[in-house]
Amino acid sequence: MTEKMYFTLGVVAVLIVLAGIVLMSRVRSARAGNALGAVGLALAVVLMLLKQQLLSSGALWTALVVGLLLGAWLAARVSMLAMPQMVALLNGLGGLASALVAYSTRKPGEASFEEYAGLLALAIGMMTFSGSMAAAGKLARLLPQRQVVLPGHSVISSGLLLLLLLSIVWRQPEALAILALLFGWVFAIRVGGADMPITISLLNSTSGVAGGVAGIAIGDPVLTCIGAVVGASGLLLTQIMCRAMNRSLLNILFSKGAAAKGSANSAPPAPAEAPAAAEAPAADLPAILRSARDVIIVPGYGMALAQAQSAVKTLADRFAELGAKVRYAIHPVAGRMPGHMNVLLCEVDVPYEQLYELDDINPDFATCDLVLVIGANDTINPAANTAEGTPIYGMPVLAVAEAKWTVVCNLDTGPGYAGVPNAIYNSPKTILRLGDAKESLAQLLQMLS
Ligand code: TAP
Repeated sequence: MTEKMYFTLGVVAVLIVLAGIVLMSRVRSARAGNALGAVGLALAVVLMLLKQQLLSSGALWTALVVGLLLGAWLAARVSMLAMPQMVALLNGLGGLASALVAYSTRKPGEASFEEYAGLLALAIGMMTFSGSMAAAGKLARLLPQRQVVLPGHSVISSGLLLLLLLSIVWRQPEALAILALLFGWVFAIRVGGADMPITISLLNSTSGVAGGVAGIAIGDPVLTCIGAVVGASGLLLTQIMCRAMNRSLLNILFSKGAAAKGSANSAPPAPAEAPAAAEAPAADLPAILRSARDVIIVPGYGMALAQAQSAVKTLADRFAELGAKVRYAIHPVAGRMPGHMNVLLCEVDVPYEQLYELDDINPDFATCDLVLVIGANDTINPAANTAEGTPIYGMPVLAVAEAKWTVVCNLDTGPGYAGVPNAIYNSPKTILRLGDAKESLAQLLQMLS
């Protein structure tokens, strides 16, 4: 293949990946965007193999077949709840692949720009690998979920970083690889399990950066561009998630005591209001359900845990049969990963047009007849508007508190992920159906039959 053809097709591959990302920004076209992105990446891989004349290598075909089978098997059996750790695993392998490319193509000798670029790719790739393994281990509960803050944690991290930089300057790849592995691990164990999705998004970005820098090291513009696209999009997603949670990335990565439940070191946040568990008001729930004409369903992480999406859809269908208008209010950080609720509801064929984003639906809570909360807590906690100093202060929340009636199908009246007590449970307009959401939904359905 001529250089010109390689570059032309490389640009096509990069444009396909970018077009895929654009499509992914809309719910309707996200699936097509995902497929298009995969096609662009596959084209880039084939181009690379052709350029490097590797197609005749038996080892290559063996690795390809094993990798494809393993990837397909993992993707087919992973549950939605395990998706964050699966993404972490893939990021880690991406980082490792870039590190291996950088290491194996290294030409020791005179110090050159390419060699330093290779060493940098090796460092970023290895720290992405170990950081992602720690993240996946935490999320899969193979490692402690809590924040692990070692004595002198910051000093250890800074020391490792300094040694790492020195081993780049002194061009010691083996020492560098070990230090980068240690640094990635020490960096990731400090983050509480519940904050991990944001760290994973950041590691997704660093896996792209590792690929991009490896591309510079081996003089391959296609790898550089694809790596840069992954790096930039991962960073943007990280920013979006932090903004939606109203927390800074530095606070998530380096705080000693994030209040999130996944952090054992966390001090309990100063509660704005500390509600005692509310008794269900003496309201006639079946009558309220039956008379509701405008219903808003608010799903949260508890719906994912209870695997109650199908029961939610069945109940929504019953409301529709009774002539009610049903909509779903989707908070940007409901669940534990971007688009978590959308994917679960899409799984059970909830029509896209029934899904409303926070800004679009918030004005309607005050006028709707009934709100059904299914395993959501922080995303509906009014303390976010008032409780200064708590992790959710300033986070925009769904204005459930304004509704005429709110039926809360949560496990208990404990605080949500951020550990901030929720006054919704105490409101006279709230009817509690505590316990597993799937069972509560079945009871509500019975009341409507
Ligand atoms: P949460 O605040 O996590 O609340 C979930 C609620 O569901 C809790 O009250 C929980 O009770 C309850 N629950 C658990 N199992 C249940 C079951 N089987 N049936 C019924 N309820 C059950 O959820 P949320 O409102 O979706 O908020 C998400 C939180 O995660 C936000 O604070 C957000 O910042 C954070 N976060 C989100 C992301 C992304 S990108 N989505 C990433 C990282 C962090 P228990 O507390 O008793 O278990």
